[in-house]
Amino acid sequence: MDIENIDVKNILGLQLPTDPRWINLAEMQLEEILTDHAYCEQKAATTCITLIQKYSDKEKLVIELSPIVTEEWGHFRLVLAELHKRKLQLGKQRKDVYVNKLIDFQHKGGSPEERMLDHLLTMALIEARSCERFKRLSEGLNDVYMRNFYRRFMESEAGHYTLFIELADTYYKKEVVRKRWKEWLVYEKGIMKEMEVRGDRIH
Ligand SMILES: [Fe+2]
Ligand SMILES: [Fe+2]
Repeated sequence: MDIENIDVKNILGLQLPTDPRWINLAEMQLEEILTDHAYCEQKAATTCITLIQKYSDKEKLVIELSPIVTEEWGHFRLVLAELHKRKLQLGKQRKDVYVNKLIDFQHKGGSPEERMLDHLLTMALIEARSCERFKRLSEGLNDVYMRNFYRRFMESEAGHYTLFIELADTYYKKEVVRKRWKEWLVYEKGIMKEMEVRGDRIH
């Protein structure tokens, strides 16, 4: 993926760009935003482990997600190092309203195969939105060091977004994936619209 030209609306499919006020708010609350970011990375690693446990019979999924666990944990450590360098504290994990609202939209019941599609698309969406947010930070922060810091995360998360969509395409018909993905994008737009703009949250 050509990172320079990521058009968030068209390539990642997201229907609503981040409110520009968020960047300034985030810049004013670096300790909180780094803490929240660290936990986003931890949850990404944890969820990949869960997917491997749940769908251990899916060889490609297991093979592809195993290194992502390491990568996400590496991201956690990078954010933690940044906090320590600045003599800031890793605070407590907050309730993740965004992710909880996404989980509400997952099909419950059905076979594990039916549920797996929504698990993969939820992850794709979180990666896409994280990528978009990191892109905003990498372009909009005043601090050049932090702009570069977030640029690296943006590049990784763009790759992860693509991987989750690819995995969905591996195990389901493309039309099925596209149809459900569109429903997810519409739903996510609704979440973004109703959520308060807060500078202490990545999402
Ligand atoms: Fe990450
Ligand atoms: Fe990721």
